[in-house]
Amino acid sequence: MSQDTTASADRPDAAPGQSIRDAVREHYAAAARHSAAGDADKARQAEAAGCCTDSCATTVDAAVFGGDLYGDEASGATAEAVSASLGCGVPTAVAELHPGETVLDLGSGAGTDVLISARRVGPHGRVIGLDMTPEMLDLARRNAAQAGVDNVEFVQGYLEQIPLPGAIVDVVISNCVINLAADKTVVLAEAARVLRPGGRLAVSDVIADPDIDRSTRDDADQWTGCVAGALTREDYARTLGEAGFVDVDIVETHRVHPHAVSAIVRARIPDRAS
Ligand SMILES: C[S@@+](CC[C@H](N)C(=O)[O-])C[C@H]1O[C@@H](n2cnc3c(N)ncnc32)[C@H](O)[C@@H]1O
Repeated sequence: MSQDTTASADRPDAAPGQSIRDAVREHYAAAARHSAAGDADKARQAEAAGCCTDSCATTVDAAVFGGDLYGDEASGATAEAVSASLGCGVPTAVAELHPGETVLDLGSGAGTDVLISARRVGPHGRVIGLDMTPEMLDLARRNAAQAGVDNVEFVQGYLEQIPLPGAIVDVVISNCVINLAADKTVVLAEAARVLRPGGRLAVSDVIADPDIDRSTRDDADQWTGCVAGALTREDYARTLGEAGFVDVDIVETHRVHPHAVSAIVRARIPDRAS
């Protein structure tokens, strides 16, 4: 099931989904610039405004994105990183990370979940943050230096083409990013490729209500905001299965839009023997 709705007629040689990716990168480059300048509130407001149309005000609680969601988990990262968070959940709270594991964060942004993971996996573990936006990578590296962690690295690249060899990762995490990708089929197949046999996926993501109307779902202007392009629960589970995941578990956490919720999505790659 391909989801690419890109209209790249003016750029016939552009990769599928490129115009969506360009718009998303522009949006997050601006957010990173605000946070780097000490105005993380502005970045978060832009995020909430993008997802929440006027109708949201009556149906959605205020703190649906960002650092306010972290609670006690926030102590694993610096205040600067947490304040620059633009996620819609807390994947580290459910990823059950163990010392020595290798973790990959898809769309690592300012690096909050990378920093929390780095403390959990300890000095014998490793955490890789992947992001396509240079401004976010700069911000994340700055936050990691400030946190004094040295078992992390930030890599520039696309979720659709993860620049890592296969079967080297124990846990893939992600926070409100997979919904932004034009083709989730490719992204989840890439996540499956880099995971070792028995490896786990634990991500926060936006899930569209089953009755979401077509125009809201395909509205390119809303793509960077969150809800356009989001999979329904049924489509998400099916796409994970097609990518090779088993034990799919999707738990809704809170509403982020009149037509979408945030959810924790967990699944795993079968062990070699099974
Ligand atoms: C909503 S922010 C979330 C950032 C971070 N996970 C957090 O919780 O704060 C989305 C991030 O994903 C990155 N991103 C979006 N689509 C991407 C793609 N296709 N490939 C790589 N990075 C992507 C953006 O640059 C941005 O930093």
